Amino acid sequence: MTTQQGIARVPRHVAIIMDGNGRWAKKRMWNRLRGHREGAESVDIVTEAARMAGVEYLTLYAFSTENWNRPADEVSGLWDLLGDFLEKKKAKLLNNRIRLHFIGHMEHLPEKTREKAFRVKRETEENGWDMTLTLALSYGSRDELAYALRTVAEKVKSGSLRTEEINETLISEHLFTAGLPDPDLIIRTSGEVRVSNFLLWQSAYAEYYFTEVLWPDFREKEFLDALRSYAGRTRRFGKTDEQLKD
Ligand code: FPP
Repeated sequence: MTTQQGIARVPRHVAIIMDGNGRWAKKRMWNRLRGHREGAESVDIVTEAARMAGVEYLTLYAFSTENWNRPADEVSGLWDLLGDFLEKKKAKLLNNRIRLHFIGHMEHLPEKTREKAFRVKRETEENGWDMTLTLALSYGSRDELAYALRTVAEKVKSGSLRTEEINETLISEHLFTAGLPDPDLIIRTSGEVRVSNFLLWQSAYAEYYFTEVLWPDFREKEFLDALRSYAGRTRRFGKTDEQLKD
């Protein structure tokens, strides 16, 4: 089925490494937080575009475990910005039946931001949803895997799990992303071509899309370009072209 925007095959789960806020601001001789503020606008616009296109899961890398090393005023500015964003966009999330979800170490967030985040999450869950917007906050994929491994090891140690029961499904179920399908398409903005510790296990068969566009300039058109690129690809999942025809 082709969407209204003429896209033949829409990915079920799109994940985005939102990069380039700082450079966007620097080009204008503005401070970095202004870049993040404009980036928050892109979050709103891209979420809407994803919903309209029929994407069921949108996951955004908003704050990595490494981002804690940034200057303190940028870190606190980002948390304030997130809190304001959730406050302002809550009604829209509810009206559009978008569920808010988080992956990462939420316990590391400032209490005020965390409480607000969980409040909005709960309200969107109670409201019912057609789409899930997941924000990766204080998230790092290696850390996620180490955490999962510890939990699994504890279960084996306590006797509630046998080592023979450890398989790919069980590992997936112990990650922050438990319950979410693997991403079909991962987008990275700003011209950087690396994965930066994002969804390493989950991206085994994801398609990647890299663009030079800085995140604050990444809007509906740019998002639809990425979906079109995805629609034109053949996903083989390790099979041959001939096998896919069967
Ligand atoms: C990367 O750009 C971006 C971030 C570390 C933060 C992402 C935050 C937002 C998009 C805004 C708020 C988020 C939400 C969900 C409302 P960078 O600062 O690393 O850019 P640079 O590489 O050009 O310096």
